[in-house]
Amino acid sequence: MQVQISLDNVGHGFQLNGKTVELFSGINAEFKGASSTAIIGPSGSGKSTMLAIMAGLDLPNNGRVVYHNKALVGSSKGELTATQMRQHTGFIFQHFHLLDEMDVLNNVALPLKLRGDRKAIEKSKQWLNIVGLSDRYNQPVIQLSGGEKQRVAIARAFVSEPAVIFADEPTGSLDEATAQDITQVMFDCCHSHSTNLVLVTHNNELAAQADECYSLSHGKLELQS
Ligand SMILES: Nc1ncnc2c1ncn2[C@@H]1O[C@H](COP(=O)(O)OP(=O)(O)OP(=O)(O)O)[C@@H](O)[C@H]1O
Ligand SMILES: [Mg+2]
Repeated sequence: MQVQISLDNVGHGFQLNGKTVELFSGINAEFKGASSTAIIGPSGSGKSTMLAIMAGLDLPNNGRVVYHNKALVGSSKGELTATQMRQHTGFIFQHFHLLDEMDVLNNVALPLKLRGDRKAIEKSKQWLNIVGLSDRYNQPVIQLSGGEKQRVAIARAFVSEPAVIFADEPTGSLDEATAQDITQVMFDCCHSHSTNLVLVTHNNELAAQADECYSLSHGKLELQS
């Protein structure tokens, strides 16, 4: 499945001390065609907020996000709701968001088990092999290094075979060499499984690997040349 994401006059902000602090407004953008998109910008500019809105995890205060499913074009308007979209997405976070006391295999298998997938363990082992953790199935996550934890998180994001992966500072907690390894694993997995990637990063080298790069600064989202 291929998904195009359109931002239609999107605006968002938060209440602070009784006042609304606007992060961005009137954002119009179409994410289509590129298999990987990076969003860069200063700290506090609203990148994580925008990613959550693009992923349908948060609703914008103004405007709307439209998910076009090419597979559906021709039937109704070819649009997905945020709930439908979430069934086709995976997430990778800076701080991994794994269940530390659970072992590696069950961290990856959990999303599939929750869906009642009987092949949860088999598929999870396949993904752990792909990310280079075939000898760690039964190790508690808490014992892993940061880079290893992010490999588990990548396997967990891909195990449901999503159409789009959203990654928020996926290398932000890692040293430079490990960040390069993880970047390679993430892009390889996206290429080999035709998965679209939308990532937020401070790391210009990581952003440069994406097909297209936007900057979010002072409330404006601009495509970088
Ligand atoms: N739920 C919330 N309630 C109130 N303010 C919020 C909320 N979420 C984010 N903010 C504020 O919105 C601003 C943008 O936050 P956001 O996390 O999107 O920035 P960012 O660009 O991802 O920053 P960083 O690069 O440091 O991760 C910040 O000032 C933050 O404090
Ligand atoms: Mg952020």
